[in-house]
Amino acid sequence: MTRKQKTGLRRGLTHYGDEGFALYLRRSFARSMGYSDAMLERPIVGICTSPSGLNNCHRSMPELVEAVKRGVLAGGALPLEFPTISLGEPFLHPTSLKFRNLMSMDVEEMLRAQPLDAAVLVGGCDKTVPAQLMGACSADIPVVQLVTGPMITGRHRGERLGACTDCRRFWARFRAGEVAAEEIEAVEGRLATTAGTCAVMGTASTMACLAEALGMALPGSAAIPAVHADRLRCAEETGLLAAGLVGSGRTPSRIVTAESIENAARVLLALSGSTNALVHLAAIAGRLGLDLDLHRLNALSDETPVLLDLKPVGDGYMEDFFAAGGMEAVLRELEPMLHKECLTVTGETLGQRLEKPMADPVDRRVVRSREEPVSPVGGLVALFGSLAPHGAILKRAAATPSLFEHEGRAVVFESLEDLARRVDDPGLDVTAEDILVLKNAGPASDACMPEAGYLPIPKKLAALGVKDMVRLSDARMSGTAFGTVILHTAPDAASGGPLALVENGDRIRLSVKERRLDLLVAEDELARRRSAWQPPAKAPARGYARLYAEQVLQAPEGCDFKVLRGV
Ligand code: FES
Ligand code: MG
Repeated sequence: MTRKQKTGLRRGLTHYGDEGFALYLRRSFARSMGYSDAMLERPIVGICTSPSGLNNCHRSMPELVEAVKRGVLAGGALPLEFPTISLGEPFLHPTSLKFRNLMSMDVEEMLRAQPLDAAVLVGGCDKTVPAQLMGACSADIPVVQLVTGPMITGRHRGERLGACTDCRRFWARFRAGEVAAEEIEAVEGRLATTAGTCAVMGTASTMACLAEALGMALPGSAAIPAVHADRLRCAEETGLLAAGLVGSGRTPSRIVTAESIENAARVLLALSGSTNALVHLAAIAGRLGLDLDLHRLNALSDETPVLLDLKPVGDGYMEDFFAAGGMEAVLRELEPMLHKECLTVTGETLGQRLEKPMADPVDRRVVRSREEPVSPVGGLVALFGSLAPHGAILKRAAATPSLFEHEGRAVVFESLEDLARRVDDPGLDVTAEDILVLKNAGPASDACMPEAGYLPIPKKLAALGVKDMVRLSDARMSGTAFGTVILHTAPDAASGGPLALVENGDRIRLSVKERRLDLLVAEDELARRRSAWQPPAKAPARGYARLYAEQVLQAPEGCDFKVLRGV
């Protein structure tokens, strides 16, 4: 056996330099880390982690990584942990989405540059799992995704609370004067009480479920609570699987295919998952040269029932989903609609996975059967029309059906700052029948598409008991939010899309039935406005902000960078 064959450092050692000298030097440095010769002969499983003091959702990561290492060692490989940047959703300005692509580049390049035979991706909070999957699809080495898992709920005066649907519910009641300041303070301490990601079917949970539906994570892994012992057992098993991936050639490009992307889209609809997942799924698909076609999404939505009764759409929390059977239950219920030939990271096809019986009966209060769904049609629809030539998204499952066919007068806010300044002004000319329009909060704006699409009901209407009205923007919405909120309008206002041309008092027509969103303004008037339009954002002078401004694509392309998409 030559020294090159003996070493576990297979991928990187022959990439550059003199083979004999480079090998000798690297082994020398590797030995300085204190590993025995026997360990250094093992293949290397990288553990791509993202812990951070500024990421509450990743608090349990050190313990999780220890469990992954046990599994990797048991599988005969050497686990070597390395960090990338981390994106803690609540603590990033102007928005975490701006940095998702940065993290994906970090993941991609470190997976590629380092001498790894396989890797485990450990993420959890909203943007981290998409960033890791995007990077892994581009690097295309064998990887398996592990998530930190959801929080469990807190208690307040006899009711369960979970971030962050209940955050919004209480805040809306506070704004309407129904909840006192002291109570809001108490609630604040009871919304997010354990390690893990948000406790409802928000973006983090949706992406965990989609990673599993894509075949990139262990069966049954998505919904295990962060603090449950099964989460650690799952981490150990993930490490063992990663060791088994060495030399398998089972890379993301064989797992993430047009068919598995469609499976994931179906699952998203059946979960009534986060609208953000559409952006992330499009970005993941785009890395492999695939598209997430929004017209196809509408066709899937028409025939895919909502099966899950979880907040923000229904009643339960992720801990209930876990106890009810988790993704095992959902995938089995959707089975006739799925592409079962799709390969998964375990080496089985999805069909083979689903042939095995479930250990426990499914709790039908949480995961409904196809015959008795929460809703017979999917949770999300794309809208097209003169206001959204490339599409806009409505989470109809979280919206008010009486507003589905609605024509109203536009009440326009030019920017987030304008919204903050005027929405609660007692003199604001607004009624519950109007349509609130927010501009310049899309991917091309300097706000970088924040979760600002859930426009607050103007205070004077909230005080009258108005709970919902049609709201429209090019922004995103938190996966934990609800309401008749039209999002991701493309092209966005900052890139000169029709949204940029909307003025106060214009008529806008929404038809969920026809999947239409139209600006009812004459074409000659629009042409006049178009010729007077000026882009709002000045290009940043340098750095990542400049790269972002020059490269970012629109929501239907996943807001990825042009140079990062696959060809
Ligand atoms: Fe991290 Fe909600 S803040 S998942
Ligand atoms: Mg979120």
